[in-house]
Amino acid sequence: MSDPFIDAFRSFAGSEGARVPELEQPMALLTGALGRVTRLDPAERPVVPVVGDHLADALEATEGSLGDLLRAVVPDVGWVQPYPEHVGEPDMDAFRAGFGYAPVVGPLENSYRSGESPLYGSEEVFAGVVLHGPNVVYPSHVHRAVEVYWVAAGTADWQKGDVWSSRGPGAAFLHETGVRHAAVTGDEATLLLFAWVTDPTSIPVIVRL
Ligand SMILES: [Fe+2]
Repeated sequence: MSDPFIDAFRSFAGSEGARVPELEQPMALLTGALGRVTRLDPAERPVVPVVGDHLADALEATEGSLGDLLRAVVPDVGWVQPYPEHVGEPDMDAFRAGFGYAPVVGPLENSYRSGESPLYGSEEVFAGVVLHGPNVVYPSHVHRAVEVYWVAAGTADWQKGDVWSSRGPGAAFLHETGVRHAAVTGDEATLLLFAWVTDPTSIPVIVRL
C-alpha cells in the first residue's frame, strides 16, 4: 500500500535503524511490517482531557523529521486512556487523568484495548503517539512487546530497568521484553512516538514493589 504517512514512517524508521545501532533489528521489523498495513477508516476519533490542554503546544515544539511525522498524522487520530482495569486506584486515576495515547497502526481485534481505533491495520506491530501532561507519574510497567519510543517534545525523567535519566527531544529508548520502564514529567508535557515491534497484542502490566 502506498500512503504518504506510511511512506514517511518507513523512511523515519529506516533512518533510525541506521542512526542507532541497537535499533537496527527493531527498525527492520517495523519497516517490514509497515509495508504490509491496511488503511482503515475509524468511525470514531475520541479525545481525552490532556489533548485539549497540551497537544497543540507540544506539537508546535517538535522539530525535524519526527515533528513532521507527528504533525502529518495527529489531526486524524483518536485518543484513549490505558489501564481501565486500574480505575479507582488513586495513583492510577491521577496518571490516567493526565495521559493519553493515540493508536496509529495496530491490530484490528484487540480485546484488552477494545476502545482503540487505529488508522492502519497490522497484526505485526502496534505504533502510535503518547502525550503526558505536566506532573504526571506513569508507574513502572512491563510488557512482552519489544518497544521503541522517541521523545518529540518535552523533557522528563525516564526509567529503563534500574536506570533513571532526564531526557528530552531527540532521545530514543529501546525496551526489550520485560524491561521495567516508567516516566515522570515535570513542568512540561511530553509528546512521544512509540512502536511495539513484536507482540502487538501483549498486555502491559503495572509493577508495584
Ligand atoms: Fe511500554
